Amino acid sequence: MSDLMANKPLLDTLFQAHGSPLNIHYLPAMDENIHTFRKVFEKHGLPHQLYYARKANKTQSVVERAAQNGIGVDTASYRELKQALEAGVSPELLVVTAAIKTAQLLELAVEHNVLVIIDNPDECELLNSIAKKHKKHIRIGFRVSGFYAEDKKLYSRFGFDINAVAPFITTGCFPDGGESHLVYKGLHFHLDGYSTTERGAALTQCIVLAKRLETQGLKTEFIDIGGGVLVNYLQHKDEWNNFQQELKKAVQGKCDEITFNNDGLGFQLIDGNLHGTLDAYPYYNEENGATFLENILNYRYKNYPSVSELLQGKDIELRMEPGRSLLNQVGMTLARVVFRKKDARGRWLVGLEMNMSQLKSSSADFLLDPLTALEPAEAAPTEVYFTGAYCLEQDILLKRKIALPHLPQVADVIGFVNTAGYLMHFYETQAHLFELSTNLSLKSAKEQYVFEDFKEECSEFDIRLPDLRRMTNS
Ligand SMILES: Cc1ncc(COP(=O)(O)O)c(C=O)c1O
Repeated sequence: MSDLMANKPLLDTLFQAHGSPLNIHYLPAMDENIHTFRKVFEKHGLPHQLYYARKANKTQSVVERAAQNGIGVDTASYRELKQALEAGVSPELLVVTAAIKTAQLLELAVEHNVLVIIDNPDECELLNSIAKKHKKHIRIGFRVSGFYAEDKKLYSRFGFDINAVAPFITTGCFPDGGESHLVYKGLHFHLDGYSTTERGAALTQCIVLAKRLETQGLKTEFIDIGGGVLVNYLQHKDEWNNFQQELKKAVQGKCDEITFNNDGLGFQLIDGNLHGTLDAYPYYNEENGATFLENILNYRYKNYPSVSELLQGKDIELRMEPGRSLLNQVGMTLARVVFRKKDARGRWLVGLEMNMSQLKSSSADFLLDPLTALEPAEAAPTEVYFTGAYCLEQDILLKRKIALPHLPQVADVIGFVNTAGYLMHFYETQAHLFELSTNLSLKSAKEQYVFEDFKEECSEFDIRLPDLRRMTNS
């Protein structure tokens, strides 16, 4: 990312060709992330498989990279499944976990014999009838929830409750008088939040459930622990702690604002007292990636042996569906500076050619400092807010005030780092008829990149408007 930002002529050529903003994907980073998880499973001697959770990023080249690495893809919609099949992912390595499974999606899954994770009885009935119509037998797993962790029950709107799922699997899931076209293969969960102890507890309860099902003649071939593996985005713990301290001070009026209009990002001052917590992804995590998985495998729930010990020799494949964590260091979002101005409160606003949907976190703000490619100028430290192209007052791209060595000039470049997991695409819209941003991928590691190394996404599903800018130019 830093190398690219240091090459302004190359950035200018990329913008000339593709407009702003641009999403760049560096695919070799995904290989490393896959390798990191595989090493942990291998160390524990556990049969395993990874499924890249496609929902985290729309780019097809990342799906192709998953296939090249021999891992599977977790799909959450008809189009995600269709594209994964087109990318050459083996149907054996695909799974459908969509929250809403339409008949169109299930027809496609049945056509290609793709494993489906069942969430509810209606879905089960629909899949069975489609499989029956095509005279096929389809592999299924059951999504389970309502696990116990530290004596509290974990609520989820997804899946079957752990206390009620066994009778459904053994007798209730075959609605038309026992003629089943569904073949039980395994158990699945995906927990909200980022707790390794909750995941360890849930996995233990699934292993116990698998044992119970075995006594009734049903062999569990896999347990899938979903995603939610934490990513560490920051270099130092101090950055994280200092930021929160300063934010609290600012909200209490003890120092100047450090966020636009003194947004507390979850903190609030009520009757002079500070309330709330930071409503943002935990950007600093010592437990992340490999250590996150390691801590799940080493977890001991109540008096049980560790998860890893419980699984030894059981012939159950342990699966996971990481999205964000497989995309760590894979992507960045670049945008061009269009204007600078001082607002009525004396704050510098720097307008970028992009909008808030093209860098949007599901939490209160994206808390990483951007990189910059600025025309050299005399040092004159300046604090700015980056603003976007929507007609909404709220289109402030980062709520944090950003300190720069000097004011950027028009056509300078701002680079938002590590945005591939959920940030660049998840909420992307075409409001104002803006085009979606272009996605470019770098397929191999090189000392120095040239324009031709950046491969543009080209997909049947790209819902692009005609390129108005080019049309106007001609
Ligand atoms: C079923 C399922 N699997 C996997 C994931 C991926 O989670 P993450 O990107 O946090 O790893 C999600 C995310 O919502 C999910 O719902």
